[in-house]
Amino acid sequence: MLDRIRELQKEIEERVVQSAEELEELRIKYLSKKGEISKLIEDFRNVSADQKKEIGAAVNTLKNFALDKIRVLKEGLEEQTTESRKIDLTLPGDPMKAGSRHPISIVKNEMLDIFKRLGFVVSEGPEIEDDWHVFSALNFPEEHPARDMQDTFFITRNPDVLLRTHTSSVQVHDMETMQPPIRTVTPGRVFRNEAISYRAHCMFHQIEGLYIDENVSFADLKQTLLFFAKELFGEKTEIRMRPSYFPFTEPSAEVDVSCSICGGKGCNVCKYTGWLEILGCGMVDPNVLEASGIDSKKYTGFAFGMGIERIAMLKFGINDLRLYFENDVRFLNQFEAAN
Ligand code: DAH
Repeated sequence: MLDRIRELQKEIEERVVQSAEELEELRIKYLSKKGEISKLIEDFRNVSADQKKEIGAAVNTLKNFALDKIRVLKEGLEEQTTESRKIDLTLPGDPMKAGSRHPISIVKNEMLDIFKRLGFVVSEGPEIEDDWHVFSALNFPEEHPARDMQDTFFITRNPDVLLRTHTSSVQVHDMETMQPPIRTVTPGRVFRNEAISYRAHCMFHQIEGLYIDENVSFADLKQTLLFFAKELFGEKTEIRMRPSYFPFTEPSAEVDVSCSICGGKGCNVCKYTGWLEILGCGMVDPNVLEASGIDSKKYTGFAFGMGIERIAMLKFGINDLRLYFENDVRFLNQFEAAN
């Protein structure tokens, strides 16, 4: 009989239940009037007198063990059900806040898309540069005042290491590494040592364009920029070119677009001129082609460069450059949601 008791104890010990029904089955099996333990008690009558004490104690221990086990299982079940009640699956989910794209990215992508449709490919270059790529290869003579056109951040220990002041530096990389025809647009961050105000910042973004092939003409440049301006600001947009100077282009021009705010009639954005200046451009100077190993007798090219902040200001009516870099969500939330 002691063996039977040990067997039952082991059985009960190993039981687990998933539900109140299973627990009740367990109770009936072992503790009801017809259950295993009752049967043991009945058998107890036949136990010889000298074994009664030992077996009686063992049966009692088993019964208490079974009662304990059932109590523990019951508590476990109750805990589970209150736990699952705490999770209300019908509640609405926590809303996931979608971010929004930065206005600079929105405008940059739109601008790049226009040039991609004309066959330009996107190229990128380093923000930390050497003098060659930012100045010398772009025909800025040593000690020439043209270098002061852009206040440069130099690394003091080595003045040959600097933050690029314009994305024109990537033209040089492209000409050094590609063979004509070259048709690239280069978006990127540029840095200038400027006092920060609503209209100037020490960091901003540009897009540079470069097209080099045989027989590229000023007319090609003009058509490319006219197409770009119409795509970006609308079909009615006109452009005008004013002669200008850049060391890396000859001839050089600055390009104005008819004011997209007033349609050219004159308003405070265009300072009542009807025109907005948006970019610099020109025919790549033969010195620049040669410096990067391109045969200037065989090839010609045009280049242009423009600030993205300025164009985003015009498109979105933003009036303070600093807003772009402060990351104030009240500002950022106003733009197209990222998808
Ligand atoms: N790099 C000039 C700037 O930062 C912009 C520019 C002007 C780029 C004329 C060009 C260009 O490629 O041809 O002000």
